[in-house]
Amino acid sequence: MPSNASQPVEGALTRSAIFVTLTVNEGDEALAIFRDLCADLPSLVKAVGFRSAEAGLTCILGIGAVLWSRLGLGVQPQGLHPFREIAGVHHAPATPGDILLHVRAARPDYCFELVTHIMRRLGPAAIVRDETQGFKFFDNRDLLGFVDGTENPVGPALTEAVVIGTEDAVFAGGSYVIVQKYLHDMARWEAMPVEQQERVIGRHKLSDIEFPDPEKASFAHNVLTNIEDAEGNPLEILRDNMPFGSPATGEFGTFFIGYAREPGRIETMLTNMFVGNPPGNYDRILDVSRAVTGCLFFVPPAGMLDIIAAGGMLVAPAADTGSAMRPDGSLGLGSLKRGN
Ligand code: HEM
Repeated sequence: MPSNASQPVEGALTRSAIFVTLTVNEGDEALAIFRDLCADLPSLVKAVGFRSAEAGLTCILGIGAVLWSRLGLGVQPQGLHPFREIAGVHHAPATPGDILLHVRAARPDYCFELVTHIMRRLGPAAIVRDETQGFKFFDNRDLLGFVDGTENPVGPALTEAVVIGTEDAVFAGGSYVIVQKYLHDMARWEAMPVEQQERVIGRHKLSDIEFPDPEKASFAHNVLTNIEDAEGNPLEILRDNMPFGSPATGEFGTFFIGYAREPGRIETMLTNMFVGNPPGNYDRILDVSRAVTGCLFFVPPAGMLDIIAAGGMLVAPAADTGSAMRPDGSLGLGSLKRGN
């Protein structure tokens, strides 16, 4: 029985990351190559990462809704669907993506080497839709100059925010992730006085200290993305955003990546940002920053990658067993059926 241990979603922010978004070509041969990658990924990470424990190399693999259906696993994670574009004051496009690779390490060479090996495996089975090489910029600042990631949950609150529990028992231990690549108009941003930039973000730029609530603008980024459930509990997400760019060609960006136990909360934040809350009260970051991609993926628990690799099927637990989590820590996946 596979364990429902999560992939390393809760890992710390690192100095380097590579984000690769791919689509898997039509046909069984391409699917078979993807299944092989699911089988081999842990040993690839181990082989590259073992050379330096300090490098802390990790890889998270996410699967989009279209590929999930093709895998014929029998059951679908409750929140998995293609990313929904948003046509608000600003536009959040939906772009193709079957696989997300989120590779993190303290050193770029480890990320680079692992992605090289993964791409050799996937070879002609997949089309690269985007590759973004992110780097840490001074004290975790984005290229707009603000510290990014401060309010991320930690400890038990982090697990609570990102790991699926009994609400979708077959997929307990999994997560959802939404990615968007943003390109900044730096000339426009830099033409804005720092006081105005701080109103847009809702924090002081140099010190990273948050404005007191009464002093925040209604459109501040940290007002529109601060959301609660019906009982007033905060609905948090984990962001591992990274700056990227090419100063020589004038490309400056933020790769947004948000993990959550259900995608609805990230989608609500996006609606608040792009449409506004109330409508029209939109996020002014978007006046200077344009989303050029948008994808949603399910991040299976690590053990589920073995089931995918084996061409197996997931079977929902019988109603009387309730949770899929067994006392021995294994997943109540019902029986693992081998596909053909
Ligand atoms: C160009 C893209 C973006 C940039 C440059 C950016 C930058 C920032 C910065 C500087 C902060 C304040 C420090 C912190 O707590 O991290 C922040 C907070 C936050 N951002 Fe973003 N962000 C971007 C996109 C997004 C998107 C697309 C979402 C969600 C869909 C999001 C969700 C959040 C959340 C939840 C917070 C914490 C708010 C709080 O509780 O104070 N961000 N972001």
